[in-house]
Amino acid sequence: MKKLEILGFAASIAASIFLFKGIKDWKSFASERSDELKGTMEYDYGSGKEKGPLTRLQGFRVGHLQTVDLGKDKKVSLITRSLMPLAFEIPDFLSDSEIEFMVGKAKQQFMDEGGAESGLSEKSEYVKTAAQGKANGHLAEFDFWDTDNDGFIDIYEAMDAATRHNSFLRPDENDIRDMFESIDPSVFEDELVSGEEWIDMQTIGIEDRFNYWFAEDRRFKFRNSKETWLFWENDKTGLLMDIRDRVAKLTKLPKKVVYGGEPIQISLYHPSGHYHAHYDSESHIKSDQPCCHQVGNSSDNCIVCRFLTIMTYMNNVEEGGETAFVIADNMTYDHQVPAEQLNLSKHCQDANLLVRPSKGTALLWYNHYVDAESKFLGELDPFSLHGGCDVIKGEKWISNIWLPTSYEEHKEKPSIYYKGN
Ligand code: OGA
Ligand code: FE2
Repeated sequence: MKKLEILGFAASIAASIFLFKGIKDWKSFASERSDELKGTMEYDYGSGKEKGPLTRLQGFRVGHLQTVDLGKDKKVSLITRSLMPLAFEIPDFLSDSEIEFMVGKAKQQFMDEGGAESGLSEKSEYVKTAAQGKANGHLAEFDFWDTDNDGFIDIYEAMDAATRHNSFLRPDENDIRDMFESIDPSVFEDELVSGEEWIDMQTIGIEDRFNYWFAEDRRFKFRNSKETWLFWENDKTGLLMDIRDRVAKLTKLPKKVVYGGEPIQISLYHPSGHYHAHYDSESHIKSDQPCCHQVGNSSDNCIVCRFLTIMTYMNNVEEGGETAFVIADNMTYDHQVPAEQLNLSKHCQDANLLVRPSKGTALLWYNHYVDAESKFLGELDPFSLHGGCDVIKGEKWISNIWLPTSYEEHKEKPSIYYKGN
């Protein structure tokens, strides 16, 4: 089987920071992937019959409802929401008291970690670059900006250029005024930059501002949320352990896999908070490297391998904050998702599957196939591309339970999370 080049999302579990590496690789990955998927029966789409460390539940068809006994007098419904990726909705997965406990802990940790719980609203201020000179590449080219060729860059052309440079940037008119003023207070007084003025323009200042917006400005960040982790082993109440046992019953995976899972991640979004479309798992970008959860290492030397995600809504969101599966069940999907469409602040409603947050409801989906031969982690499911749309009104709290599992070649390495046998 071909080694796949996949879109690069590097994640450091240790630092709990996600670094955005680039979207462009997505396309080459996806077109190769499409050839492999066509007409093959090689992949397990969830027959539920496989033997081995990893199995997937059976989805049957979209809308199918099955009841699962999770023990301790808890039965839940599993509603199939899509087959590609295999995704289920599970109402009442967490109870109100469990949610109260977990969100309470997260709030406490946000406080302890410094700053108010609403830390996201403390917007950092742009500090002008001291560097002088020209930007790299097209940002320095007058023609890139002056799209109507009238010899001037106007405010709308500048807004458009920002978006063409990085599809997540959507500056408004004031942003553009601010940007030009910080480079040269006089040049944009008439709200136009002429070709002559451009010659002396320190366009490095533009590049710096664009980088700042993408990295720091809440509106344009790839992910705009605040996260913290709840460690199973720190919980003396047994409540998190109960949830973990529930995950084992729900997924029908061996305890060794379930107990090897990451800590629970709690994320909080405020209005304009979002998480553009992404994969929760890295795949064979660096096939010679083990999965991070097995070696407890940083993203430089390992890859993030998350077989499945169980994401639970911890509140009802007043408006917005849907989870978007951009290409779910898209049979005619031509494997060319324009980078633009990954922008869920803009393209939320274009997603094939949108789920509205509902308190206590979990979504379970598989980020990977099961490898048909080894029954260990198979390849990344390209259809698992997903993200969180802008919250418009109110807060949005979610919890993520990720079950990381290994590729066969690294199966001998123990998980850093799993201490027993
Ligand atoms: C995530 C994620 C989606 C959402 O946290 O990895 O994809 O709806 N969240 O918040
Ligand atoms: Fe995600």
